[in-house]
Amino acid sequence: MSEKDYVLGTHDEELLRLGLQHRVWRPVVLDCWQRAGITIGKRILDLGAGPGYAALDLAEIVGPSGEVVALERSDKFVAAMRESFRRRGLSNAKIYQLDLMTGDLPKGNYDFSWCRWVLSFVSDQTLLIKKLGDVMPKAGISIFHEYAHYGTWRFLPPIPSQEKFRGHVIATWRESGGEPDGAADLPVLLSQNGFIIRSATPHIFCVRPTNYMWQWPVTFIEVYLPRLVEMGRIDQAFADKVRADLAGAEENRNALMITPLVVEIVAEKM
Ligand SMILES: C[S@@+](CC[C@H](N)C(=O)[O-])C[C@H]1O[C@@H](n2cnc3c(N)ncnc32)[C@H](O)[C@@H]1O
Repeated sequence: MSEKDYVLGTHDEELLRLGLQHRVWRPVVLDCWQRAGITIGKRILDLGAGPGYAALDLAEIVGPSGEVVALERSDKFVAAMRESFRRRGLSNAKIYQLDLMTGDLPKGNYDFSWCRWVLSFVSDQTLLIKKLGDVMPKAGISIFHEYAHYGTWRFLPPIPSQEKFRGHVIATWRESGGEPDGAADLPVLLSQNGFIIRSATPHIFCVRPTNYMWQWPVTFIEVYLPRLVEMGRIDQAFADKVRADLAGAEENRNALMITPLVVEIVAEKM
């Protein structure tokens, strides 16, 4: 599978969406990293780093005595990441354009690895966790933020068109060779590759339209509807219906949305 087959795409709108997604999640992520022990001087491997929003934060946290090694397949995302590091004046990162499925993960004396929303999109999770197990040193900590149950994503009161949209999301990710519930097999894969789980934390939110978190799934809908039309999966009338239903929900200050369940897994290499 090549970059052009990547189901979410690597166009400008997706690049911006990943930025918003990172900003919405940043408080959760900073808390997780701090609890896990990420601090000045640590060396961190970032798997499937996208345009590098998390990698930049990590590089600032670990400082000049630490290092981030960021791996990403998309040349566009890699170029954006290099440019962001240059603009922020950060020189403590190594950025590799690499396909996690076909390339060798660079060896390094990593203290941590970070993997967020990547397991849902790789064609072979077993292979990725084996490769990770091969490069993480003893006592290295691997942190994952991955979907555990995408089907939790719904509105209250329910919006039937959103539930159909969610079904298309799940189906198209599977058809592209991924698995939306990316974390489902992680406990088994970690055990098979010498990791022990130190903590597991669910992250799920029930938010109203005024909450910043609301913007996370909503911008995904905006960016993925045209993608589904392009794929021939839905027509324009259905896309317009989803948008209109969503706009209707946003007018109701008491509308609620439950987010897709993400699980945070922190595991130590034995
Ligand atoms: C949903 S994005 C998440 C990006 C980043 N981890 C974040 O949290 O912002 C998934 C990323 O995984 C990358 N990706 C998917 N399959 C890959 C593969 N086989 N090798 C390397 N990167 C891959 C995509 O290009 C994309 O940047």
